[in-house]
Amino acid sequence: MAQQYYHTVTFGCQMNERDTETIAGMCEEMGYTNVDSVEDSDLIIINTCCVRESAENRTLGHIGNLKRLKDKNPDLVIAVCGCMVQQEQAAETLLKRAPHLDILFGTHNLHQLPKLVAHVKETGKSVIDVWQSEGEIVEHLPTRREGKLKAFVTIMYGCNNFCTYCIVPYVRGRERSRKTEDIVAEVTRLAEAGFLEVTLLGQNVNSYGKDLPGEVDFADLLLAVNDVPGIERIRFTTSHPRDLSDKMILAVAQGSKICEHFHLPVQAGSNRILTKMNRGYTREYYLERAAKVRELAPGAAISTDLIVGFPGEREEDFADTLDLVQKVEFDAAYTFLYSPRSGTPAAEMQEQLSAEVKKDRLRRLMDLQNEISLRSNQKLLGKVVEVLVEGESKTDKDKLSGRTRTNELVVFPGPKSLQGKLVPVKIVEAGTWTLVGELVSFQA
Ligand code: SAH
Ligand code: SF4
Ligand code: F3S
Repeated sequence: MAQQYYHTVTFGCQMNERDTETIAGMCEEMGYTNVDSVEDSDLIIINTCCVRESAENRTLGHIGNLKRLKDKNPDLVIAVCGCMVQQEQAAETLLKRAPHLDILFGTHNLHQLPKLVAHVKETGKSVIDVWQSEGEIVEHLPTRREGKLKAFVTIMYGCNNFCTYCIVPYVRGRERSRKTEDIVAEVTRLAEAGFLEVTLLGQNVNSYGKDLPGEVDFADLLLAVNDVPGIERIRFTTSHPRDLSDKMILAVAQGSKICEHFHLPVQAGSNRILTKMNRGYTREYYLERAAKVRELAPGAAISTDLIVGFPGEREEDFADTLDLVQKVEFDAAYTFLYSPRSGTPAAEMQEQLSAEVKKDRLRRLMDLQNEISLRSNQKLLGKVVEVLVEGESKTDKDKLSGRTRTNELVVFPGPKSLQGKLVPVKIVEAGTWTLVGELVSFQA
């Protein structure tokens, strides 16, 4: 039989990127070969996100564009999976809208892709298979990793928090932690394959282990991963501020490979809005936790997520957000316009704000954060930092780029042979998004 090709498209967060690596692994096990262009594909898989309306719109556009390929090649198999499909009734609606789709499956049954592909090839009919609830965690699925240096490792699935704006708990199910030994085994295999950095993924890594027998928590897991030989850097995301313990901060300070970077989404700076969001902490509590990070893990970076224009957000609430941002001085912040998600409590709340008000607040918030990011980067001028060289810079092919332990992007001149090495770099220029450096002579 002629060689068959598959192509994947991923929207959404790192969790989805990791899932796509499993999808790719399964495709290769089925005998398909990866290809960059959709035109040459026999199997296309689109892994979707529904966290904001903009993500859904981009996905729908993409799915629409594939119709012409299916018209040209009726044997082409198109599958759509992920969070968007997992929403109630979404698969049925999507198939009605885009009858050129062959397979729709959800977040809980990734592992069934081979079975579904075989079914479509046999019957020639479209199939919907979305599980209503999560099953057991399936270990040992094949994986095709993106890159050779840095890898994502999912440590837990799902979320129990039900923040009132968020769709994730509805499409990812309840929290389920992988066993520590399975995680350590995966990291060990990665180290043996030459990977230097792992990022431990979960919607709320600080509640790792609560559903496991025994007394294991995220701090214990971090230190267990820290003991894996060959791994040089350990990152983790996301930390829910409510569950950030002193023990966990101390583990970061203590583990020599654990990068001093906390992604600690605050979402809003006003207590009234935090309550309406069901975040489970006050601004005072958040400020105290951030101060604790600075005290117990000196030099650590703190980044955050912020939503503007939550229902009922008044000018004084927004002022509280600006004030908190100023007080914490985040190293980086991802800022979002509130997007109503059908099925979440916030979508039903009174006082939804107009697009103009939301956009105006977003602009003011971004202006402030950009100033702060620039100032925080300027503090690094003249300092020597450790950079993991990832390869040539995307913006300047003559230069190398990589990240510091605290996750700043650094661009600097140097030989390609340094790719995959940890090198000392002196910072000579600081912008809002990027640092420019010079290699400091060292013994490789
Ligand atoms: N579990 C992580 C991230 C979840 S989604 C956490 O708790 O932080 C990533 C970010 O998307 C969230 O932190 C939030 O800032 C944003 N987000 C989630 N739902 C949103 C919505 N309905 N509108 C706008 N932003 C949203
Ligand atoms: Fe969504 Fe909140 Fe869970 Fe994060 S913690 S995934 S924002 S419900
Ligand atoms: Fe991630 Fe989007 Fe799903 S942010 S968990 S892919 S809804």
